[in-house]
Amino acid sequence: MADYSVYELLNRKRRGAPLDPREIEFFVEGFTRGTIPDYQMSALLMAIAINGMTAEEMATLTQAMLRSGEQWHLRDSYDFIADKHSTGGVGDKVSLVLSPWVAACGVKIGMLSGRGLGHTGGTLDKLEAIPGFNARLSREEFERCVADAGCVISTSTEGIAPADKKIYALRDVTGTVESLPLITASIMSKKLAMGASALILDVKTGSGAFMRIYQDSKALAQSLIAAAAGSGTRVEALITDMDRPLGIAAGNANEIVETIEVLKGRGPADVLEVTRAQAERILVMSGRFDEASANRALEDALTSGRALEQTRKWIAAQGGDPNIVDDYSLLPQPRTTIEVKAPQSGALTAIDTYQAGMFTVDLGAGRKKADDVIDYAAGVLFDLNVGDEVRAGDTIARIQLGTSDRDADELRSKFLSFVTISDAVPAERPMVHEHLR
Ligand code: URA
Repeated sequence: MADYSVYELLNRKRRGAPLDPREIEFFVEGFTRGTIPDYQMSALLMAIAINGMTAEEMATLTQAMLRSGEQWHLRDSYDFIADKHSTGGVGDKVSLVLSPWVAACGVKIGMLSGRGLGHTGGTLDKLEAIPGFNARLSREEFERCVADAGCVISTSTEGIAPADKKIYALRDVTGTVESLPLITASIMSKKLAMGASALILDVKTGSGAFMRIYQDSKALAQSLIAAAAGSGTRVEALITDMDRPLGIAAGNANEIVETIEVLKGRGPADVLEVTRAQAERILVMSGRFDEASANRALEDALTSGRALEQTRKWIAAQGGDPNIVDDYSLLPQPRTTIEVKAPQSGALTAIDTYQAGMFTVDLGAGRKKADDVIDYAAGVLFDLNVGDEVRAGDTIARIQLGTSDRDADELRSKFLSFVTISDAVPAERPMVHEHLR
């Protein structure tokens, strides 16, 4: 690898001039090996956060981070294997419903997923609410689950994109998390390292999304798709709504219950709609279905009970107790439930979903610090959601306490501080806003 002057590269990027591909590779490789120190990488990250990157720079950064570790090339081992990524939200259990549902249609799916980040819940944390469930699989175990159950969700192994882990730790403490090229390279380096045949991106928009403003969410979706160009993984994105919690449950064990209810055909309509839209795109991308036959296959998998049977197989393949599907009492149970009543009549016109997520984290359902222990039974059930009519005294939510002991009135008033009830007619928002490819 050529030796460049780090000082010179930093100066150039600070002035807003682009770096060439070999210079970006030099930087990422040097930082990962430890020859470029944290303070110089921090300076580069800040220059990128302020000045942005060209599409070519961003693609090179993604590739350099991807090449810092293992590449699984899964698409070479299967006729077709899908992957899915969500930018995160509150009550987002789409991956949990989607995986066995798609597998029940005969399409394999595997995900290297994450834990909760900030106000958003983490798919792995939810799965670990299931007794015995192993979400830390080796590559061999991951592939065995694909063979046994047609679907798998596991944590990213140490070997996947180590450059991202090191860079993210610096971004976290240097105010450079919110940068489109850095977010793009971070997400896509991990996703492309798995090397699925196709990837569906669920890019959230609204008050509980990473990108709250629609145009920012769309720019992120376009940027993620562009970063995959030439990678061999076909990528499409759906922009979906996160201006309200998704479904009824936000937490861990309670989201597992809701997932199974959806797979039993009894789940909330919004979760079903958002999941179905993504499942349909995966089936179509597999080349074995068109839109109409994909929808028929999905409907049949649900109504026949095959999706539910696939769920039992999947949980067992990852070491979990499949009896939870039929007996929710085997999951961690809340010790107390606190009802929140509507103080006035009207319509529920808004839920600040970021605040709802932070509230859920504060109950113990997420982590405030990396080493916090998750309280799997803690969470919130949103009995009413944005757009619903409400009468004074109706129960709008139930707060579930796990192991912690909290003042009920304080929690109720905190909850009501991020919910708006008024006479206004809430603006209608679709659940699925746009499909990009
Ligand atoms: N998720 C990631 O994996 N990386 C980011 O930078 C932001 C969200």
